[in-house]
This record gives sequence, C-alpha cells and structure tokens, in this order.
Amino acid sequence: MTEKINLMEYTGHIANMLPKGILLNTNADKFNSMVIGWGNIGTTWNMSTFVAYVRENRYTKGCIDKTGEFSVSIPIDAPDPDINKICGWKSGRDIDKVNEAGLTVCEPVALNTPGIKEYPLTLECRVLHKCEIDLSQLPEEIREKMYPQDVEGTYPMANRDTHTVYTAQIVEAYIIK
Ligand SMILES: Cc1cc2nc3c(=O)[nH]c(=O)nc-3n(C[C@H](O)[C@H](O)[C@H](O)COP(=O)(O)O)c2cc1C
Repeated sequence: MTEKINLMEYTGHIANMLPKGILLNTNADKFNSMVIGWGNIGTTWNMSTFVAYVRENRYTKGCIDKTGEFSVSIPIDAPDPDINKICGWKSGRDIDKVNEAGLTVCEPVALNTPGIKEYPLTLECRVLHKCEIDLSQLPEEIREKMYPQDVEGTYPMANRDTHTVYTAQIVEAYIIK
C-alpha cells in the first residue's frame, strides 16, 4: 500500500538524507539499486524535478539510458549501513542486490521502476534531459578531488569518469506502508 505525499513537505528531509546515501533504483533487465549522495530536488521547466549525477561506469547508467526512468528511495530515519555497503560498493553487473541487500521490491504506481519497503519514501522519476559534465569547466580543486585521472572508472568512489546529469520529472511521490 502507498500513501501519496505533498512533496514540498519532504524536500528538506530528502536534502538532509542525500549526503548520507539514498537509493536510485532502475528496472531495465532487472531491478537494481545504487547509493547516491549527490542530487537536487526542486523545480525545472515548471515541474517538480529530481536531478541525479551518475558516473559513466556505473551499471545504473546503462539502465537509465535504456528505460528513461528511475525511482528514488529515501529512508525515514537513517540509511541502513548494510544496504549502503552493498548498494554503494558493489555493482549490479556482478551481483543481484535484491538478494544480497535483502531489499523488498514494491509495485510502482505510475512508471515501471519499483521502490523498496526498507526506504519507504519513494519518488518515481521520468528523465527529461541528460548531459555530461564538462570537466574542463570545473574549478581545478573540484576536478582534481572528484575526478582523479589515475583512478579507474570501475572504482565505486571518486574516479576519472565524468558524471551524466539526469534531470527527471517527479511523476509520483509517496510512502510505502
Ligand atoms: C554514500 C555514497 C554516495 C554515492 N553517490 C554516488 C553518486 O551520487 N553518483 C554515482 O555515480 N555514484 C555514487 N556512489 C557510488 C555507487 O553507489 C557505487 O559505485 C555502486 O556500486 C554503483 O552500483 P551499480 O554499478 O550497480 O550502478 C555513491 C556511493 C556511496 C557509498
């Protein structure tokens, strides 16, 4: 069961949870969740939007590109360290995160990407626009710290890969009960 929410009442909570690690879910060939610590919630083109930053080598990137959508799952209290360890350090290319992290996948309401019961605050998002960050346009200190060119793109943390910035319309916002 889901309970529709007034998104504006939760933007502060979502912004607060983001740096601790929330989940971006995709449902291309299978359901997969990856931890994200960067993102923006707000208004673009007169729509409620969520903006996600996904590095080139993440399994998640190909999944978003294939389906044009994702969901975002946010904990009510605090992120679960076990979920963070698996979904933030292992790739859906190599493992089934639903089994390994013990995720309970719940039927989506409007799109085709489910949310999860463990992080019940859910946003269903339809991608409107994507673009790559041009590293040459960044201040040097950010480029060096966030995009170290001697670190392979397969590394789960900062590496040489740029981010694709996905701006997505929040089509549904609800809490899984
Ligand atoms: C706290 C935390 C925040 C993260 N934030 C991001 C992010 O915003 N963007 C990103 O591309 N990767 C981020 N990652 C790394 C991915 O979660 C990690 O590489 C994951 O294994 C990718 O999964 P996938 O290959 O199944 O897509 C973060 C990891 C952690 C632990």
